Amino acid sequence: MNKVLVTGGLGFIGSHTVVELQNEGFEVLIIDNLSNSTIDVLDKITSITNKKPSYFNIDLKNKADVQHFFKENKVDGVIHFAASKAVGESVEKPLEYYENNIGTLVYLLQEMKAYKITNFIFSSSCTVYGQADELPITESAPIKPAESPYGNTKQIGEEIIKDVTNISNLKAIALRYFNPIGAHESAKIGELPIGVPQNLIPYVAQTAAGIRKELSVFGSDYPTIDGTAVRDYIHVVDLAKAHIIALSRLIHNKNKTAFEVFNIGTGKGNSVLEVIKSFEKVTGKKLNYKLVDRREGDITAAYADTAVANKELGWSSKLTLDDALLSAWKWQQTL
Ligand code: UFG
Repeated sequence: MNKVLVTGGLGFIGSHTVVELQNEGFEVLIIDNLSNSTIDVLDKITSITNKKPSYFNIDLKNKADVQHFFKENKVDGVIHFAASKAVGESVEKPLEYYENNIGTLVYLLQEMKAYKITNFIFSSSCTVYGQADELPITESAPIKPAESPYGNTKQIGEEIIKDVTNISNLKAIALRYFNPIGAHESAKIGELPIGVPQNLIPYVAQTAAGIRKELSVFGSDYPTIDGTAVRDYIHVVDLAKAHIIALSRLIHNKNKTAFEVFNIGTGKGNSVLEVIKSFEKVTGKKLNYKLVDRREGDITAAYADTAVANKELGWSSKLTLDDALLSAWKWQQTL
């Protein structure tokens, strides 16, 4: 049985990936410092899969703890989610973001090299493309100058990993996520926004639940079908499954090059107003919203060309926007 370390395994995407890994027979070890998650997620994962993953409350910034973990535990691969991800916060606290997202990546890769662990999956983001010149966005679209320290950590992270694959036996896949949303069908795990949500779907769900008075739709003058910005919303369960396929590809040496990147999205763009309509339809709840000015730093439109992921990974999204929004609403009702 393959043993996998999942860093950030109690977080939003991490927890869904741990569930899928355990369902596929992997033995999972989680490292999570609970900075953006809670310990009860461990019990929720256990109740969904009937299997408790091993859990280590380690902060990856503590190099000695990381070294100790790898000395004590043998793993066949690492899926690295643990990172800070708030775009606005990263502008206020760049050094925290570089330490948390880059420093920890370096420590992990150092230990993987020392213990000859050769399989690595990295959480990257479509943010590396900025506002792409052509839609849908292919993996060969140019990397644009990062618009935030957060985005920069994803670009630099990919470069660091690529450099290491050049000088060692490391094989790595960076998955460039589009907009992950939704929750597990059990409604036992989902996204836990701390404070006022910055992302659209948690804000929508909290507005429907009466926690927020009104959703602000940022920008109605974009050159899109209805003037609101367009994104590729990918169900977190589909996204989680892509990680298992990517890891298996590396474990079985099916990769074409030592460092590969794949877009993980649905391939379909939806506007903010389309999301609102879809949410209202599947939940039967009327959403209170108003059109306001654009949000600084937002791009007009982004959606994935998924041909490479379809062909190379044999992966494609199965769940729809409606599925994702309904699952997000069911999850919201448990909070
Ligand atoms: N939006 C609103 N109102 C809100 C929140 C969001 O109208 O209250 C709009 C945004 O303006 C945007 C869309 O909904 O047009 C999606 O916004 P999100 O904040 O949910 O997602 P982003 O596309 O802005 O950001 C996501 C990830 C980032 C990543 C980025 C890459 O959250 O981590 O994609 O493009 F960097």
